[in-house]
Amino acid sequence: MKKILFVCLGNICRSPMAEGVFKKVIENKAVANKFYCDSAGTSAYHIGALPDERMRAIAQERGIILDHCARQITVKDFDDFDYILAMDTSNYNNIRNLTKDKSRQDKVFMMRAFDSDKSTMDVPDPYYGGMSGFHDVYEILWRCCNNFYNYISEEQKI
Ligand code: 4NP
Repeated sequence: MKKILFVCLGNICRSPMAEGVFKKVIENKAVANKFYCDSAGTSAYHIGALPDERMRAIAQERGIILDHCARQITVKDFDDFDYILAMDTSNYNNIRNLTKDKSRQDKVFMMRAFDSDKSTMDVPDPYYGGMSGFHDVYEILWRCCNNFYNYISEEQKI
C-alpha cells in the first residue's frame, strides 16, 4: 500500500481535486486497493470545510465526488505518507520547512513535475478568479495524476 498526500494552501480547491482525480485514475485502473490518498492545506484558514462549491461542481461533471473535510498538514504526515505532492512552489517550500530531516523532505514533490506541459511549475491558485481557472486546475491535475501514476507504477512495480 502506497500512501499519497496532496497539499495546497487552503485544502478546499486544488488538493482535494488532486485527491479526487488521483482516486479516479486508480479506480479506472482497478488498483484503488493499493493506495491510501488524502489531502491537506499548509494553512489553517478552512479547517473542517468541504471543498469550494466551484471545484465540487467541476468534479461532479466528471463523476468525481469531493467530500473531503479540510485539514492542516502536520509533521506526523511525513511519517504517515510515502509521497507528499505540493500544488505550487510556495506550498512546496512551506511543507519542506516543517522538518529539517532530509529523508522526510525528500518525500515532497511538485505536482507539476509530472506535467507534460512544462510552462510553469505551479498549479495556479483559482480561489479569487473565475470558473475558467477551476477548469484549468482540473485539466492540469488530470495530466499530472496520470503521469504520476505511471511514474510510481514503474518505480514500485505496482
Ligand atoms: P487552495 O485555494 O489552496 O487551492 O485550496 C485557496 C483557498 C482559499 C484561500 C487561498 C487559496 N484563502 O486565502 O482563503
